[in-house]
Amino acid sequence: MPTELNEIFDSVTKNPIFNDKTILQSSYHPEDIPHRDEQIKQIASILAPVLRGEKTSNLFLYGKTGTGKTLSVQYVRDELLKRVDKNADFKLKIKYLNCKLKKVSDTEYRILAELIKKLGGEVPATGLPTQSIYSKFIEIIDSDKQLIVLILDEIDQTVKKISSDFLYNLTRLNSELSKSQICIVGISNNLTFLDELDPRVRSSLSEEEIVFPPYDAIQLQDILKKRADSAFKKGVIEDGVISKCAAFAAREHGDARRALDLLRVAGELAERGRSDKILVKHLDQANDKIERDKILDIIQTEPKQFQFVLHSIIQLSEKNNKFLGNPQKTLEHNKSEEPIFTGDVYNLYQNICIKNKCDVLTQRRVSDIIQEFDMLGIINVRVISKGRGGRTREIKLAITKEIIEKVKEILKDSIDYY
Ligand SMILES: Nc1ncnc2c1ncn2[C@@H]1O[C@H](COP(=O)(O)OP(=O)(O)OP(=O)(O)O)[C@@H](O)[C@H]1O
Ligand SMILES: [Mg+2]
Repeated sequence: MPTELNEIFDSVTKNPIFNDKTILQSSYHPEDIPHRDEQIKQIASILAPVLRGEKTSNLFLYGKTGTGKTLSVQYVRDELLKRVDKNADFKLKIKYLNCKLKKVSDTEYRILAELIKKLGGEVPATGLPTQSIYSKFIEIIDSDKQLIVLILDEIDQTVKKISSDFLYNLTRLNSELSKSQICIVGISNNLTFLDELDPRVRSSLSEEEIVFPPYDAIQLQDILKKRADSAFKKGVIEDGVISKCAAFAAREHGDARRALDLLRVAGELAERGRSDKILVKHLDQANDKIERDKILDIIQTEPKQFQFVLHSIIQLSEKNNKFLGNPQKTLEHNKSEEPIFTGDVYNLYQNICIKNKCDVLTQRRVSDIIQEFDMLGIINVRVISKGRGGRTREIKLAITKEIIEKVKEILKDSIDYY
């Protein structure tokens, strides 16, 4: 045993693979941001007048996840802050807030309290009525001759969890300020978010708009190569790994975060397998692992009613199919698997709700939930017409046996009467 442990620990301490793993993490700020020159220049030229104390248009950045929005905006913020004139007769403050953070996202109170704190004020954790916290917010902004740029990342979260009143109030704020001014930079990866807003709020938030298109595979390769150069030891990446990694991520709507995660996990798997090179096989394993973690993560955070529906589907599939006895067997081998039907899922789901003393959702709502599982790739749903306009839906599980077992563990933990 001790020799085995020595080998395990040695493989990590000697570390033939990584030079500096933090370079692959999302919190790392690379010096070079390839393929975003255009967007960075646009943001900079829209915001540049703040250096002279002039309020600029509000700016809205959008694009799919992992397209470099947060990275680019933070880069421009840092560059602006480097150029602030300390002797100017106004103060320039540029504050960044990610609205998705747990501690701020769920109430208007918390988000305002967080903004007040960032501006150097203080508020009790709870207790003030919303109106007074607004007054406090205005007071702290207007306490000095200053220009404030507020960068609200994942701004759609404020509407999802609070209400659009918050954004409405924010966009009206300038009319209540006398000494100071505020500009808002909103960022979102929800492409339809603006459409859902009150037209006045929408036009105010997006006086200027910048789109971040997805990266293509070639661009992802450039990004990966630059970061891999300093993250890994020289020569440890087998030919073909970077291009395959970029291809995987390009398929996932050009997500640079996904590409970097894949490469990092592939490196970790190589390290754990005591390989001194990252091989294509490690990348394939990394892709499976990330896919699996994503599905499990979603299932874990779904509301109880979703979990009940999934539990019903798994139970019925197990009853219908014997494949679950063989751990090696994946669903690829089960094309001939017996499907189950929505009606049966609904019946079993109702029983589970009753056992767990929870409300029973309508069949229609359960159908929507089933649809969502289909979209997430957890199941495959096929609509079958039964003549005379009648239709039913066939369901088959679309995840491997190994993942099903993990899902069952999660459901067991979460459902009281399993
Ligand atoms: N052009 C680039 N060069 C180097 N790294 C990049 C580039 N674009 C994105 N990244 C990296 O990819 C990851 C995701 O980027 P970022 O956080 O900016 O995405 P985002 O558009 O804000 O996504 P989300 O909408 O999910 O917040 C980060 O680790 C970032 O450093
Ligand atoms: Mg972001």
